[in-house]
Amino acid sequence: PKVTYVTHDGRKTEVDVPVGENIMRGALYNGIEEIVGECGGGLSCATCHCYIDEEWTDKVGPPPLEAEAELLESAAAEIRPNSRLSCQVDVTEALDGLVIHMPETQY
Ligand code: FES
Repeated sequence: PKVTYVTHDGRKTEVDVPVGENIMRGALYNGIEEIVGECGGGLSCATCHCYIDEEWTDKVGPPPLEAEAELLESAAAEIRPNSRLSCQVDVTEALDGLVIHMPETQY
């Protein structure tokens, strides 16, 4: 499935992320530096914060785990209703075309 990552100033990168891979790793493997993913997806760093595009928020949904919602509060950038930790969002066929917005900073 295709995932488009958009920087805070509007630069877009579209990449192919395999099903079952998460959005954080999809960024890392493709050299997208705005998602850091310091803890490697261990749900302990909040440097993989992203905003799900409005068109996709229903499909992706809110954090299923309280741990994610709590950790999101320590993210460096503003938290919005469509904030997610990208290591907790797995790519599925249904998410083909997904658009992810990235905050200006993860620190
Ligand atoms: Fe650390 Fe997502 S990579 S919480």
